[in-house]
Order: sequence, then structure tokens, then C-alpha cells
Amino acid sequence: MKVQGKDKKLSSDELSAYEKAAQEGIDPRCIPQKLQGPVPEHDAIEYPDYSESDHENWKYLFDRQVKFLPGRACEEYLNGIEKLNFTRDKIPALKDLSNVFFKTTGWKVARVPGLIDVNDFFGLLRRRVFPSTDYIRGKDELDYTPAPDCFHDMFGHMPLLTDTHFADFYQLFGEAAMRAEGKNRKQLETFHWFTVEFGLIRKPEGMRIYGAGVLSSKGEVQHALSNEVEVRDFNPDTMVLQDYDVWHLQPILFAIDSFEQLKDGFKQWTKKLGLLK
Ligand SMILES: [Fe+2]
Repeated sequence: MKVQGKDKKLSSDELSAYEKAAQEGIDPRCIPQKLQGPVPEHDAIEYPDYSESDHENWKYLFDRQVKFLPGRACEEYLNGIEKLNFTRDKIPALKDLSNVFFKTTGWKVARVPGLIDVNDFFGLLRRRVFPSTDYIRGKDELDYTPAPDCFHDMFGHMPLLTDTHFADFYQLFGEAAMRAEGKNRKQLETFHWFTVEFGLIRKPEGMRIYGAGVLSSKGEVQHALSNEVEVRDFNPDTMVLQDYDVWHLQPILFAIDSFEQLKDGFKQWTKKLGLLK
């Protein structure tokens, strides 16, 4: 396992929040791994030999989390849940999910072994390929796991990838991030955190959630729309300067008005930085 970017010494404001946490010895599974070669994609992804207990864990998490969605998750995410046709009794096959994306937004899935190096991650996004794990957390981590697993990747991230505007934004994100260095990289990571992982969206029916980190978490999904959270308007210039702590419930979140606004706002902001043309 190799931590990305350690060939040269990075100052603390260039380290990602996960890298800082890993350096503090919190959980080695949160240290990004550099991929050692190509990973299986789309139809080449084999279905793992899951145990009964793996499927039970998926079912438990799925049933628990799906109950929180009405009145909380945004319409685009809920539409994605329908399109993906998740099975509750059985962990879905990445290959099948990849085929839904390919037909809806032209994305595919790649099977990755865990948290991956940011260059590998951005490189896949740039090609409209979503890196997903296929293993699931154990029974002792059903309430919380700091490490990535397929419940977070599939249930949290995948539904929105069936939305055209979000899917286009995410590809642009990969493209811009590949060109970013130093502080720009860190700012892009913060952008990702407050949108892809923890984003809220204003809808005529009220505030709704689209962030994968919220929708796949029992604690965050109940907390994100509560009075304990300060919701700020989406503004890339100020949002990327906001500190956050990956290990606790988020006290500050940012709300977009639409996925077009997310895409256009990201484009304008990265053009200013010279990361997109
Ligand atoms: Fe995530």
C-alpha cells in the first residue's frame, strides 16, 4: 500500500483530510492505495463469492436506509434508485449497475480494491468510469465504518450518476482535478466533500439531500436537515475555504439550487483557476 504524493514532502495544507487522519493513526484502510495496473470494468467485473452474512448485511443496511429517503432525498436521486433496480436480498452486481449507467448517462463502473489514490480516482472519473468497491462492511460496523464499502458506493453514489447534469459535472470534476496541484487539489477535495458527499439541494417542496455521504449514513441522513446544521448557499469561492472534520456529524452544509447550477458553477470556478478550458 502506498500513500499518494509522498515522493515529495507535502505541507499540511496540501494533505487531504483522509491523509491527515491516516497520519494520525486513525484507520489504515483510509490510506489511499495506488492501483498497480488496470482494474476490471463494466462487463469484465465478476460477481464475488459473497457469504450469506454479506447479503444479510446489505439487506439490513438497505432496509434501514431506504426508510429515511422519503421527504429527505432529492427527486433525481430517488429516480436513480428506481432505474438501478437495487435488490434488497442480495448485493447487486457491479456489472448490472454499470449497464444501467451505460444506457442512461454513458458512465461505466470499475471494480477497485478500496480507497484509491486520487490520481487513479480522477483519471477514472475523467473517462466517465465510477470506481466502486464490491465488498461490504462487517456486522460490527453496520452503524459506522470509516472505510469505503459497496453499500456507500452503490447506495450512496450510484443513483445520481443516472442524472445527466450530475453525470456531466462529475466527469468535468475528474478532468479539472487531473490538472490541479497543491492547494488547488485540496480545494477540489473540499468541493467534492461539500457537494458529492454532503450536498443539499433546494427544491420547491423544501430542502433535500443529494450527498452520498449523507444518504448512505444512518446518523447523517437524520442530522443533515435538522436545525443543528447551518445551511449556506453554494458558492465555490467560499465553500472551498471551509474546514471540515471527516469523523463527526457535519455542522455546516451547502445547498445548490439545481444540478445545472452545480455544473455551471464548477465550470466557472475551475476556468478561473485555469483547470478547465
Ligand atoms: Fe463517497
